[in-house]
Amino acid sequence: MEHLKDKGKDNENPTSEGRLAGKVAVVTGAGSGIGRAAAVLMSGQGARVVVADYDERGARETAELVAAAGGRALPVTVDVTDEGSVAAMVDAAVGEYGALHVLCNHVGGTDPRKDLDLLRMDMDEFGRAVDRNVRSTLWGARYAVPHMIRAGGGSIINTASVAALVGDVLQTSYGAVKAAVVSITKSIAVQYGPQSVRCNAIAPGAVMTPALERNLPTDVIESLKRGNALPYLGAPEDIGHAMVFLASDESRYLTGQLLVVDGGMTMQSSAAPGRRAMLPG
Ligand SMILES: NC(=O)c1ccc[n+]([C@@H]2O[C@H](COP(=O)([O-])OP(=O)(O)OC[C@H]3O[C@@H](n4cnc5c(N)ncnc54)[C@H](O)[C@@H]3O)[C@@H](O)[C@H]2O)c1
Repeated sequence: MEHLKDKGKDNENPTSEGRLAGKVAVVTGAGSGIGRAAAVLMSGQGARVVVADYDERGARETAELVAAAGGRALPVTVDVTDEGSVAAMVDAAVGEYGALHVLCNHVGGTDPRKDLDLLRMDMDEFGRAVDRNVRSTLWGARYAVPHMIRAGGGSIINTASVAALVGDVLQTSYGAVKAAVVSITKSIAVQYGPQSVRCNAIAPGAVMTPALERNLPTDVIESLKRGNALPYLGAPEDIGHAMVFLASDESRYLTGQLLVVDGGMTMQSSAAPGRRAMLPG
């Protein structure tokens, strides 16, 4: 949390200045990692934020970070797999701030111990993956869109993953549900573009969230690094900054797109790391 303490201090008066001045943003999964970074950075750019998470303490801590930097944040406890809970989250945002302009449908993921290859994957986990990644995205957008239309437009940002783009030896469900998130993003963009509601997705590559850092062995972290074109892995803020851009009017001509923020992982030929040694000098 220490590294985020100054991130919200980009402007002195967060509600009247900044790239997101006047906007109300809901970020799900804002109790830790990328969602927390996005909420703090959005507040630093003038947004009033709702930090939504089913981890009540995490949401409160994020709200405290925002407040300490002079911003406004409302912590809300939500289970994004539950329709009523998502509806209540959107109501809370509009009740507190009077409008809704930005929704980050950030919660997602699967249980890596159960989400294995085709023959060994747990099909119940596949169902949970659909709930956590797909249904949650649909519920969030369904409840947010009418408010965005009322506000004259809005921006929905869905968190996909590079797993939507490539095949892998495990996490069969994860790739499938993130591909569904990309597809839903395009449908929403087409359906509500005429009312100036934009919808884009971000595909993060390997991002060192606190949870990932704790759980991944050093050799796996090193092999992830070797897979990137850049010599480092992502930080939560790297995705947060991209979310700020998609939330802001700077991206007003951008909709239905997948922004891949992966350090060059998916565009790099698998032969490239080995072939570097063939270069002269
Ligand atoms: N970290 C990465 O390398 C990476 C890469 C690609 C995509 N992603 C995507 O980023 C998102 C996860 O973000 P993160 O990496 O910051 O993870 P994280 O584990 O740090 O944060 C996830 C947050 O979501 C909350 N959450 C989980 N289930 C919830 C639910 N049902 N309702 C409400 N809140 C819930 C958790 O309490 C937690 O605070 C997922 O969509 C994941 O697929 C992450």
